Amino acid sequence: MSKKLRLGVLASGNGSNLQAIIDRCREGELPAEVVLVLSNKSQAGALTRARKAGIATLVIDHRDHPERAAFDQAMVAALRNAEVDLVVLAGFMRILTPVFLEAFPQRIMNIHPALLPAFPGIKAQRKALEYGVKIAGCTVHFVDPGVDSGPIIIQAAVPVLDDDDETTLSRRILEQEHRIYPEAIQLYAEGRLHIEGRHVRISPPQKPPLLALLNPPTV
Ligand code: GAR
Repeated sequence: MSKKLRLGVLASGNGSNLQAIIDRCREGELPAEVVLVLSNKSQAGALTRARKAGIATLVIDHRDHPERAAFDQAMVAALRNAEVDLVVLAGFMRILTPVFLEAFPQRIMNIHPALLPAFPGIKAQRKALEYGVKIAGCTVHFVDPGVDSGPIIIQAAVPVLDDDDETTLSRRILEQEHRIYPEAIQLYAEGRLHIEGRHVRISPPQKPPLLALLNPPTV
């Protein structure tokens, strides 16, 4: 069997995306394994999930590194030490500097809870609700020097319902995050993603796409 892709996951929060990735790896479908979970928050739920799964964890507190570049350099050293092939940002709430990006060119993925390029940055679900969009969603993309601006790999759309609040919409989006993040990593592990400028081509192509998603479904 060919070598498994070694994943380094960076997470600041609950870690439900991390869990979806761990589960998919364990099911045996995804030729990858999470070898290190790194967090800037010692209390992150992601660390508990990793420990439960027997995965190595490390806390690097950004407050111990007033210079952003020094914080990134410490993370790069840990990821290199763990011989990570792909860096997976899963609810990691720090912006990376060129020090980090240059260490893993085209080898960093992120998930964002909006249909980019709409609503980059923090509180994306709240911004979508306030704006009044009828369709929201999530995006997996490669990371470039901008904020949530790199080439898009997969997006999933969900309807926004009239009685949604931030919690209900976030939950609906999160369910799709758990589907598309493992899927994007799988495509990468299979060598099927090719970055051409802003475009990520998938070869061979996926199933035929949906024609449209309408909300409200009146026509
Ligand atoms: C997810 O909704 C993820 O898309 C978002 O944080 C949440 C983490 O949840 N990430 C960002 O907003 C990054 N800008 P999780 O810890 O349960 O995976």
